[in-house]
Amino acid sequence: MRVLGIESTAHTLGIGIAQNFPPYILANERSKYEPVTGGIHPREASRSHAENLGTVLKKALTKANITIDEIDAIAVALGPGMGPCLRVGATAARALATYYNKTLIPVNHGIAHIEIGNLLSGFEDPLIIYVSGGNTSIIAYKYGRYRVFGETQDIALGNLRDVFSREAGIAPPYIVNGSHVIDLCAQRSESKEVLDLPYIVKGQDVSYAGLLTSALKKLKEGYKLEDVCYSVVEISFSMITEVAERGLAHTRKSEVLLTGGVSASQLLDEKVKKMAESHGVKYYNVPPAYAGDNGAMIAWTGVLAYLSGVRMNPQEARIDQRWRIEEVDVPWRG
Ligand code: FE2
Repeated sequence: MRVLGIESTAHTLGIGIAQNFPPYILANERSKYEPVTGGIHPREASRSHAENLGTVLKKALTKANITIDEIDAIAVALGPGMGPCLRVGATAARALATYYNKTLIPVNHGIAHIEIGNLLSGFEDPLIIYVSGGNTSIIAYKYGRYRVFGETQDIALGNLRDVFSREAGIAPPYIVNGSHVIDLCAQRSESKEVLDLPYIVKGQDVSYAGLLTSALKKLKEGYKLEDVCYSVVEISFSMITEVAERGLAHTRKSEVLLTGGVSASQLLDEKVKKMAESHGVKYYNVPPAYAGDNGAMIAWTGVLAYLSGVRMNPQEARIDQRWRIEEVDVPWRG
């Protein structure tokens, strides 16, 4: 069976097509809203998604070399995310499901990140480090659901990196030749010394807001941009790696999966890899095309959910901006 998945929770509009037999993923098309200045404006992003939806949908079907008739169900990320953006995907999914008489499958965005990671890695039960512009969580499966074993108390790791870079005047663009500008800046630090900045880990949670404020203050005080970048990167990555390590010891998982947009950072990859190796557990970093927000992950999770009997009446498909992963049963596991 085949599922078409729609992702529109933030800056990416993604449409993917997946099936329940190899090669599993048939298409993973997208358009990305990139603000010229500042951060993501939810309404502008949603307008961009609405404008591009038809084109991306057509591209996905062409790539998979199928027609809409060969699709069994429409999966859509109903949350968490930005309201106006989520509404574009939800509206499109309701329309497609109703007009073409397809089953509608609600998908939680965070769970989709995990399931595509499981598919690609072949992992069965990993500890997940999910780090992106909107999310920073340590997750593991326990008793029928994915549970959060640590998260940010304020801003997400990707948000810290983007806002710092923007305020420091080195972004946008945020990504240059596949690397985030803050990582490139950090690599140019000559001292490679970590400045005195807040390293805030509370129990299993992290807090990045204080680090952001203090780092910007250091710039104003005249510290070298490269040294501040280096310190922000070192401290923020060490914080998340520390809570991941404790999560690993606590849950006793034997696999570590790194995903989300920030997983593309080579510096984070090295840190987490070292931590996993020191515990003798397997490690997999999801490749960028599937680690950042994408439609294939929604389609694939749709396949798993569909086969477990998850369905939703199109009229009841409402978005939930704060839909936490612990609220979702995952009958395809366990
Ligand atoms: Fe995401």
